[in-house]
Amino acid sequence: MANVVIVGAQWGDEGKAKITDLLAAQADVVIRCQGGCNAGHTVTHGEEVFKFHLVPSGMLYENKLCIIGNGTVINPQVLLKEIQELQSKGFSTANLKLSDRAHLTLPFHTSLDQAQESAMAEKKIGTTGRGIGPTYMDKVGRYGLRVGDLYLEDAVLKERLAQIVSHKNELLEKCYPTLPRLTVEELFDWCLQYREQLATVVADTIALAHDALAEGKKILFEGAQGTLLDVDYGTYPFVTSSNATAGGACTGSGIGPTRIDRVIGVMKAYTTRVGEGPFPTELKDATGAHLGEVGQEFGTTTGRARRCGWFDAVIAKYSVQVNGLDGLAITKLDVFDGMSELKIGVGYRNRQTGETITHFPAQLNVLNAVDPIYESWPGWKGSVKEARTFQELPAEAQAYLNRIAQLIGCPVAIVSVGPERNQTIIVENPMTASKRLFGATEKIHA
Ligand code: GDP
Ligand code: IMO
Ligand code: MG
Repeated sequence: MANVVIVGAQWGDEGKAKITDLLAAQADVVIRCQGGCNAGHTVTHGEEVFKFHLVPSGMLYENKLCIIGNGTVINPQVLLKEIQELQSKGFSTANLKLSDRAHLTLPFHTSLDQAQESAMAEKKIGTTGRGIGPTYMDKVGRYGLRVGDLYLEDAVLKERLAQIVSHKNELLEKCYPTLPRLTVEELFDWCLQYREQLATVVADTIALAHDALAEGKKILFEGAQGTLLDVDYGTYPFVTSSNATAGGACTGSGIGPTRIDRVIGVMKAYTTRVGEGPFPTELKDATGAHLGEVGQEFGTTTGRARRCGWFDAVIAKYSVQVNGLDGLAITKLDVFDGMSELKIGVGYRNRQTGETITHFPAQLNVLNAVDPIYESWPGWKGSVKEARTFQELPAEAQAYLNRIAQLIGCPVAIVSVGPERNQTIIVENPMTASKRLFGATEKIHA
């Protein structure tokens, strides 16, 4: 068994939760490492659809240790609601632990996020409005409040809050005069409320995870957001405020890279993005609308319609590189059922210079000036939904997946053909396969 990182390889919503829920059966510990309640992770079990924002997608198993790691940012109200909902459905949350090093999203972080977005008007990022950026800003700016700070002695906590209040009120005064000023008393009451309510959940999760590793237990790291939303590697500034790439699994959990055996990138068979920012293979036509409708592409957190487009091998290859992907989990292949032609973006052409681009460029002005170069692939008749082995897929679907693997230099380990746990083809089990077997795509698909 291996310690495996599940990472979003596009712009989020790739189906990370479905893959995490599936592989968690073979893990002992599931850790969310970054992001906060901007994430919307869907796990479908028959009629029951679970939408998680903060709790790891291993929560539906009875005996998995589920950790919300130090790299996350936590809105306690959202977390407690999720815990209550799970309990009301009969699930135990005794194994859920929240890192004392995670940062708290305070109420003003959420108001600031929304005010910043309104102030930017048509230049807005299109954030989820959940206070994520302002919380991470304060973390990095060293004005943040950590979960463990809730348990400081009252006088020490008040002193810390006074520092935060004075700093923030100065900002509010100058930049957001319409937002209410903060008071130490209000924030202190807020802290007291959650100090009590979170008491049984807060833990030194780094110690817990290392105890588990020492006992030979296996860890599944559940990524949130996606590579192109990563603050370093994404389409900056149209990104989230954390490292959504594989490195974030280490910094967000306290487990070093040498303990990770494998990294699996989840990507849709096409591409989606919610929020603003460049998206070279976006389809603003009937085909895009068809993908959105059949794929039910609406944001899990905000309900916004997701923008849809063809598979972009340029960004996918970049994801393979910056995450060090060992294998791919390709989801939503079923959405292509009945489509006569599929396209893969294999490069970009700069409209102004005519230059062909095959490496993902950093500059937004370049990204905004490119047209994708497409390869056309035949679709298939009938449905892939019932396929449970690679060989049961129509020849056209096999050829499409093989071409993706070849173009981006990474083998397909898993194919998802529907939202349910069992609607999955395991080409190579990432939890058990030896590293060496993840070599040649042709060998795996032979
Ligand atoms: P995440 O944020 O990466 O966990 O993904 P989301 O849960 O936000 O969005 C993925 C959506 O696709 C959810 O509604 C899933 O139930 C659904 N989904 C996952 N895999 C498949 C699949 O193979 N086929 C179809 N049709 N839906 C899928
Ligand atoms: P999961 O984990 C898709 C996007 C927002 C916006 C940008 C910044 O479900 O894949 P933020 O609120 O983080 O400051 O917003 O990032 N975004 C996501 N898009 N899936 C997500 O999470 C996302 N989390 C943030 O739409 O464009
Ligand atoms: Mg999502």
